Amino acid sequence: MFNIILFGPPGSGKGTQSEKLIAAYGLVHLSTGDILRREIAQATELGLEAKKLMDNGQLVPDAVVVGMIKSALENNPQAKGFLFDGFPRTEAQSVSLDALLAEKNTEIGVVLALEVSNEELTKRLLNRGLTSGRSDDTNESIIKNRIVEYQTKTTVVANYYSKFDKVVNIKGEGSVEEIFSALCSEIDKRLSN
Ligand code: AP5
Ligand code: MG
Repeated sequence: MFNIILFGPPGSGKGTQSEKLIAAYGLVHLSTGDILRREIAQATELGLEAKKLMDNGQLVPDAVVVGMIKSALENNPQAKGFLFDGFPRTEAQSVSLDALLAEKNTEIGVVLALEVSNEELTKRLLNRGLTSGRSDDTNESIIKNRIVEYQTKTTVVANYYSKFDKVVNIKGEGSVEEIFSALCSEIDKRLSN
């Protein structure tokens, strides 16, 4: 099994690159943001609670997302590997993920961290907000909250995995194809070892 965390701030291209990576490597894509938006669309109790926080650009509680990931891992017993997108986002989530993977006798192979300037992130998200229907994309002050949440709560995830020498920084600006090929070359290096 080879498991990847695709890491980076809001709008850094995690979703865009995930689609290409799962197709190339046959991984199961686990995006907590996508799972939460499905819960909102189905108007579940969890979705309605999460929506209030997401609409403000704030993180939902660790226990909620860890529970979602735990079920997703259990529902995919045959997976060749998982691609985590938008998870983990706090140190507590990282510790929980490592424990869940250890129960399956596996671990994170690499953390690929996309680096994009705040100006570019804001530009991309406002632009997507014109058509995405995502309430957290429409207003610059909510986008700013998302970036602040990332800086104050999520950057520690990279520090955490750096201790295990698992983090590789990738320039997240440029064409989608260029970035994809940089990601693939890091994955291929590790798969051939
Ligand atoms: P989530 O859905 O994870 O959103 P996010 O991290 O804020 O990031 P996005 O999905 O907006 O961006 P992305 O990096 O996937 O970029 P994309 O490829 O779409 O989370 C949403 C909310 O859910 C959170 O705020 C939180 O409330 C909650 N949540 C989720 N997970 C959680 C967790 N683990 N713990 C707690 N709460 C959680 O690209 C963005 C745009 O840029 C697109 O329009 C795209 O076309 C464009 N683009 C992509 N690549 C390029 C490029 N190379 N050049 C130019 N444009 C590009
Ligand atoms: Mg995304």
